[in-house]
Amino acid sequence: GSTLQAAAAETNRYFGTAMAGHYLNNSGTMTIVNREFNMITAENEMKMDATEPSQNQFNFSSGDQIVNWARSNGKQVRGHALAWHSQQPGWMQNMSGTTLRNAMLNHVTRVATYYKGKIHSWDVVNEAYADGSSGGRRDSNLQRTGNDWIEAAFRAARAADPNAKLCYNDYNTDNWSHAKTQGVYNMVKDFKARGVPIDCVGFQAHFNSGNPVPSNYHTTLGNFAALGVDVQITELDIEGSGSGQAQQFQGIVQACLSVARCTGITVWGVKDSDSWRASGTPLLFDGSGNKKAAYTSTLNALNAG
Ligand code: G3I
Repeated sequence: GSTLQAAAAETNRYFGTAMAGHYLNNSGTMTIVNREFNMITAENEMKMDATEPSQNQFNFSSGDQIVNWARSNGKQVRGHALAWHSQQPGWMQNMSGTTLRNAMLNHVTRVATYYKGKIHSWDVVNEAYADGSSGGRRDSNLQRTGNDWIEAAFRAARAADPNAKLCYNDYNTDNWSHAKTQGVYNMVKDFKARGVPIDCVGFQAHFNSGNPVPSNYHTTLGNFAALGVDVQITELDIEGSGSGQAQQFQGIVQACLSVARCTGITVWGVKDSDSWRASGTPLLFDGSGNKKAAYTSTLNALNAG
């Protein structure tokens, strides 16, 4: 394949990108999105604060712009994200207890129902595990509603859109030996054992020198897949430049291709200048939209699969 999506399709995988609403105003960026990618994640526009700015008053206009562009150009959509401790609307941030639990479930139900039939996979719950060595849940207002809040969210999402794949998504879960990775693994294992509806696990894959691509990445992806879920790289970006960065992208692609149930890779933006990272050059295209060495190594690794 001569594009990322075509090369990934040769092994029945997708290659996606995050897309912010403002990309739609930049024809150069959109040319790249259309050519290279076949899975779209809204970078911010489908999050809780964007879709429910006032309680029970939903606003899908920004999300719809992205979803409609994607679908009318033959792309699939990853929904991001139904329930998260971050980017909650102001009205939700200080809620607690049953009130918060019901508001969260109402949000999951209403948003998943609105987009029913248009979403390939939903990040139902995002980033619910703590950093560090505890391997436990992150403290948050949602967690304080009870440890079963995650499975409640998944059950609500399944009821609202039975055909969407339902994913748990997190970061720093790449290294098999990290406590956070083990915590998420044990949750997924428990969910599968008890019939909680979960179909997939997303690995955000935000890497930098302090958090490099682990050499055991294929082990992590393979062990999760062996639980009976699909796995995906969902928000890939890697700080660095030149051949070092290119090699790390290649390693990620190889790790995914080595696991049958690793069904796709999404990068977290198109041009370096679009990245959420305040500085750095973590993506596959430079600020002018030129292909970087990391693009070439990614494409070659996909084609070698
Ligand atoms: O839209 C407002 C704008 O009106 C305002 O003037 C401006 C001033 O701060 O803020 C704008 O909102 C910002 C928004 O991005 C849109 O640009 C928010 O402040 C900013 O916090 C927000 O950052 C996003 C971040 O999630 C928030 O947590 C990043 O764009 C987005 O890339 C990032 O994505 C996350 C994933 O959802 C989850 N995994 C980690 C990943 C990277 O942090």
